[in-house]
Amino acid sequence: MRIPQLAVAVLFLLIASAASVQAQPPGVPAPPTSAVGERRIEDLLGRMTLEEKLGQMSQTLFPKGLPDKTKDEIRQGRWGSLFNLGTPDEKAEAQRIARKESRLGIPLIFGQDVIHGYRTVFPIPLGQAASWDPELVRRAARISAREAYADGIQWTFSPMLDIARDPRWGRVAESLGEDPHLCGVLGAAMVRGYQGDSLDAPGSIAACGKHYVGYGAAEGGRDYNTTWIPQNLLREVYLKPFQSAREAGVVTFMTGFNDLNGVPASGNVFTVRQVLRDEWRFDGFVVSDYTSITELIEHGYAADAKDAALKALRAGVDMEMVSTSYHDHAPSLIGSGRLDPKLIDESVRNILRVKTRLGLFDRETSPVNPAGPLAPDALDVARSLAAESLVLLKNQGRALPLAQSTVKVAVIGPLADSPEDQVGTWALNGDRYAVRTPRAAIQQVLGPERVAWVSGLKTSRDTSRDGFASATEAARNSDVVLLFLGEEAILSGEAHARAFLNLPGAQEDLVNEVAKAGKPMIAVILAGRPLTFHSIASKFDAILYAWHPGTMGGPAIADAIFGAAVPSGKLPITFPRTVGQVPIYYSHKNTGRPPSPRDLGIPLGTALNPTGFVSQYLDVDFTPEYPFGFGLSYTRFEYSNLQLSTRQVVMNGGLTVSADVANVGPYEAGEVVQLYTRDLVGSTTRPVRELKSFRRVRLKPGQKETVEFRLSTRDLAFVNDRMQWITEPGRFHVWIASDAVSGLVGEFEVGGEAR
Ligand code: GLC
Repeated sequence: MRIPQLAVAVLFLLIASAASVQAQPPGVPAPPTSAVGERRIEDLLGRMTLEEKLGQMSQTLFPKGLPDKTKDEIRQGRWGSLFNLGTPDEKAEAQRIARKESRLGIPLIFGQDVIHGYRTVFPIPLGQAASWDPELVRRAARISAREAYADGIQWTFSPMLDIARDPRWGRVAESLGEDPHLCGVLGAAMVRGYQGDSLDAPGSIAACGKHYVGYGAAEGGRDYNTTWIPQNLLREVYLKPFQSAREAGVVTFMTGFNDLNGVPASGNVFTVRQVLRDEWRFDGFVVSDYTSITELIEHGYAADAKDAALKALRAGVDMEMVSTSYHDHAPSLIGSGRLDPKLIDESVRNILRVKTRLGLFDRETSPVNPAGPLAPDALDVARSLAAESLVLLKNQGRALPLAQSTVKVAVIGPLADSPEDQVGTWALNGDRYAVRTPRAAIQQVLGPERVAWVSGLKTSRDTSRDGFASATEAARNSDVVLLFLGEEAILSGEAHARAFLNLPGAQEDLVNEVAKAGKPMIAVILAGRPLTFHSIASKFDAILYAWHPGTMGGPAIADAIFGAAVPSGKLPITFPRTVGQVPIYYSHKNTGRPPSPRDLGIPLGTALNPTGFVSQYLDVDFTPEYPFGFGLSYTRFEYSNLQLSTRQVVMNGGLTVSADVANVGPYEAGEVVQLYTRDLVGSTTRPVRELKSFRRVRLKPGQKETVEFRLSTRDLAFVNDRMQWITEPGRFHVWIASDAVSGLVGEFEVGGEAR
């Protein structure tokens, strides 16, 4: 029976227990440290000098060539960790010195930014998020860990769990998107991939939830900028993915650069000591970001390096990355009675606990495997994940997949054949020679003689029109045009904010010029962020968003173009029509004057104040170009028969919500079925939609599946103005949908007292 759109719910009264409001449950305990391990930690601690303790709390870049000065420092116990750079042999030698030639033989821990792959590069995290496939994301992380481990790396500064709702921010590329549920599920999958079933097993490395916390809310999308996040929003949205990582057993966190409500994240007692340690009972260690401790001075939060060290230590930042304020100033802070030495012991304990869990005390120096060719399973996962990350934004007249009868294809645009751009930001150790570009992959499918390849521009930022004529000529002599657009890798990532989101350089001009050839046009966009291309979207019959797809991006794109893979990706972040709409995200509040579809734009010449006084723009539709969760397929999915197991839910109870999803088109394909809810009335206003669950299904043509979700009243909880996680009684809407603005909607009522 179809539920009428807005079923009238019968009020359901329950004598509920007295409203007792609880904080969110603490995370599951981290992997236990054996009693032997804990005893060894206490024994070491009892024998360590203050200098050696501060050494464990100090991390530096692995110096090129491992100079004698560094070897001597390692012998003295000056460093607890080295990171990035350093060959496998140099790491092995550094570890041998630490284990055999230092006074206490405490092993180093080698860290590295293994952000979306190591030698095999997977799609950038934002692209991986578009797959909505936690298992494949976990497998990619597992392969990344295996490859990094083989090079002597024991710790990755990943997953990046920053909620990103501003595409101007360059690090949106490294994020898992705008939604706390999706980001939490995928971030936890990465943690499980890196850390494996056992942290001390070969191939497992420590994961690191970063940048704790709120970094992605940088004002203006400008990196390192100030963040203002009210505590209820901080807990409900920005902390949520970190809590998911905690519950997945992550053993380290990294504090961010950002000023959070006036207290920089790397000196923030509330977030580190109260939330992370006391509420979540985290017992791993916390590392600062790169000089983020001495940056407390620039923030105007510390008077000098000594003050910065004191504030970071009091906040509970255990290890200092690159800057040396702990080493330089902790002794005098202790001597002057301003710093409790117990805080030092606590930090050292946390660091030694992770080194113990990693088995570093029991492992001979790092294994050194000569880097052979990339393993077949690594390339297969890279190809599959790249294919699942592709989002089909438009496919007019079934322009894609290309018909077998296609004789000749024009491949145009510099990003069609640019390995270093294709792998995206933070691909430090990617095997550049293994990268397969779209141009090469398409030529492999069709044969070189059927592909007219013209760059048209030298780079994505090129403003010269010199290559336009040959591009247009190639289009004229082909049956269909594949235009590769987007932004080169260096335009995204850390410190690379953009004030405009349009295609850089003369790419739009190139599109308009090539369109004159009058051939069917398909855009493949490679980028590290949502871009705006509204003005040229109509020129294309199909638009495929490929992010920066990694080593196997070329074959994955070719698979989609020729139909060997059917796009199933869904947007993990809202695409604005123009940068003027930013920030724009699906789980927004309704406001007191919500616009309606009739308020889309204002026709020229309309009389003065013609419009409703509602929350909209005069010069652009208030809706996004493409909403969160959106993505087309070569087939078509039909949603029907929404069923709720009940319309009256008791507090602490739940309900089952299901719908039939049918593949009514010609291709077998994957579909991400999404579950959203809305709390219609709350003691604080609630978003118009919130993602609560999702399920990937794969259906053959004609196949139908009933997709069922279990929803408990705890899933409906939010943080009220007294900072308590609470579920309030009242009416709720629930959708089963294929994106954040459509779907089948039902209504249910939660009875009883708030809990
Ligand atoms: C960088 C980044 C951080 C990275 C660290 C080490 O500045 O903010 O994400 O892990 O330094 O490279």
